[in-house]
Amino acid sequence: MKNTEVIMIGLGYIGLPTAALIAEGGTHVHGVDINQQVVDTINRGEIHIVEPSLGNSVANAVKNGFLKASTTPVEGNTYLIVVPTPFKDKNEPDISFVEAATKAVIPLLKEGDLYIIESTSPVGTTDKMKDLIYEERPELKNKLYLAYCPERVLPGNVMHELVHNDRVIGGIDERSTEKAIKFYSKYVKGQLHPTNARTAEMCKLVENSSRDVQIAFANELSLICDKADINVWELITLANKHPRVNILQPGSGVGGHCIAVDPYFLVSDYPMESKIISTARQVNNYKSFWCAEKVQNTKLKFELDHGRKAKIALMGLAFKPDIDDLRESPAKYIAQRVLQNANNEEYYIVEPNIKEHNVFKLTDYKSAYEKADIVVFLVAHKEFKTLSKEPDKILLDFSGVFK
Ligand SMILES: NC(=O)c1ccc[n+]([C@@H]2O[C@H](COP(=O)([O-])OP(=O)(O)OC[C@H]3O[C@@H](n4cnc5c(N)ncnc54)[C@H](O)[C@@H]3O)[C@@H](O)[C@H]2O)c1
Repeated sequence: MKNTEVIMIGLGYIGLPTAALIAEGGTHVHGVDINQQVVDTINRGEIHIVEPSLGNSVANAVKNGFLKASTTPVEGNTYLIVVPTPFKDKNEPDISFVEAATKAVIPLLKEGDLYIIESTSPVGTTDKMKDLIYEERPELKNKLYLAYCPERVLPGNVMHELVHNDRVIGGIDERSTEKAIKFYSKYVKGQLHPTNARTAEMCKLVENSSRDVQIAFANELSLICDKADINVWELITLANKHPRVNILQPGSGVGGHCIAVDPYFLVSDYPMESKIISTARQVNNYKSFWCAEKVQNTKLKFELDHGRKAKIALMGLAFKPDIDDLRESPAKYIAQRVLQNANNEEYYIVEPNIKEHNVFKLTDYKSAYEKADIVVFLVAHKEFKTLSKEPDKILLDFSGVFK
């Protein structure tokens, strides 16, 4: 592709929408992904993930020749690293994908190029990548622009938020920050806040840890209320009438690639200091375990009361409402745990956002609801909210579908 300017490394939930957005704005983008299937799908103008209006953007960008993909990088002017940063055993961050992606672009770098990490990363990662780059290309020292810019989008609303959210942009020096801000200002309408790379890295981790801690508070309340026989949804609504109280909603745990993962990056590097953050992770994980136990106890009680095995609908597998993403999903964890304890009950597993699953046999949400004696709402998908409450069913509404 001629005049390729932006090389996007990693074409997943964040990289692909970002690539499509930049390409639709008239910049030539070359997307890179190690997954051949992903590359082939995109080159056909199609997408491999569920995200509203992404399909049209990719189709347009590919049709107009502004977006192309391959499994290896080509030369450009700006390199964006948007690969996964999961955690390893013992909840330590794994930056090997960022390292691999960086190593792949090092031979292509030239004076004046801009290199930006968007992957959520432990503090100090941009500095580490700087050292890696200059070790292999010492002649480029101080001739590149290196920055970190975290992504804050909400899955399901990514195409809007990519444009309208504020962004925090931290370079390894001021000239890198300025260069990166200039780059993002071409397609971001939100404010661009300059800082240094370490603060930008920390900012992302703190944002998600803050959410995790607040959700843990709501989840803890749900456990207390269950014991106290108080409706937690009503309680929170009432408490939030206080002008300075804003409690979040409880759920079946916390999942996804971000909130359930990023706090560990802080806990791992600052174990003595991050006590609340660490406890919040434990509370949110415990909530999922508790939900699975609740299903187990409810089904045993049903058996005693009715003299027969229960039919159980497990509603939702995604990590949050109205998406197809099952990564670190508490709902999936609960479903797995419940099925491990299965003892001839009939189960209907429901996830309206995916067509099939390699482990779970999926059932349509309406027929599952109709047939089940016990309905377990693990995720508050919009489809479930159209169901009417039936008094003869036992409802375990962990996600507030009927709140
Ligand atoms: N998904 C979100 O909502 C979200 C929000 C904010 C930040 N983030 C962060 O953004 C980063 C990317 O997340 P995502 O959700 O897009 O992940 P993803 O798994 O959906 O996509 C990552 C892609 O990178 C590819 N990949 C892996 N190694 C590669 C390499 N060396 N070269 C080229 N491609 C490679 C994978 O095949 C995959 O398609 C992560 O650090 C994540 O924490 C994600």
